[in-house]
Amino acid sequence: MNENPGFSLIGKTVLVTGASSGIGAHLARVASDAGARVVLGARRVERLQQLADEIRQTGGEAMAVALDVTDRDSVEAAFDAAQAAFGVVDVVLNNAGIGNGQRVLEISEADWRAILSTNLDGVWRVAQCAAQRLAKAQRPGSIVNIASMLGLRVGTGYSHYCAAKAGVVQLSKSLALELARYQIRVNAIAPGYFKTEMNDEYFDSEKGQAYIRDTVPMRRLGSLQELEGPFLLLASEAGAFMTGAVLAVDGGHLVGSL
Ligand code: NAI
Repeated sequence: MNENPGFSLIGKTVLVTGASSGIGAHLARVASDAGARVVLGARRVERLQQLADEIRQTGGEAMAVALDVTDRDSVEAAFDAAQAAFGVVDVVLNNAGIGNGQRVLEISEADWRAILSTNLDGVWRVAQCAAQRLAKAQRPGSIVNIASMLGLRVGTGYSHYCAAKAGVVQLSKSLALELARYQIRVNAIAPGYFKTEMNDEYFDSEKGQAYIRDTVPMRRLGSLQELEGPFLLLASEAGAFMTGAVLAVDGGHLVGSL
């Protein structure tokens, strides 16, 4: 008999940062459907409450916590609340992020800091907090960081975002190396373009649609459903021997013809 536990998250506590919209909200539902207790973290708690209610109505277990990844105290408090309600967090989806297209000559110190502070420092802070608690409890865990294909290649108007996401890629590999001895796996997903609140205006425009047709080999945006398999692979025991990997989920965008 095949005893592979597969993609199940039964018995696991999963904390999702930036769970109030887009990829985070979607994958939080997916984690619940896979059997996890889900901790929804973001700054907009009222939106999280709605999602938590929705998950409970489908028979899942979920809680909403106020979480600002740029603030150490807020991150620690969110993990404390999660732990008090559901036990030590086993799986983290480090998803919170912001994006703002700006040419390099126009980026202010504050713009630069805002992007780096959320997209790179925040990922480090949440991952470290999760790992410290897992190591202390001597429990295995999985950290899944949402990077971007812009962490592997570059695009005009995104120098701060590209630098932060490239940092997430290297951070994921470094953490994988150091945390393997604690049975904590760290991997990254590098999404291509998925329509969410971050970019919907652009992708609804003729210019945005032409860009996708012309540059993505599969000639379309991704659907959030297409992130489910990669996330569950990395989060669950199905990926038990994977650490330090960066999975591109991008319709071939990274291998687009030069
Ligand atoms: P989104 O704007 O719908 O979601 C981002 C979430 O992060 C929101 O819930 C927002 O409230 C939260 N957030 C922002 N700053 C935060 C903070 N300081 N503390 C806590 N939460 C905070 O956008 P989307 O697309 O779902 O983005 C999710 C992740 O995916 C981001 O890291 C983004 O960079 C990444 N990504 C998205 C792509 C796309 O095409 N949508 C492509 C590649 C990467």
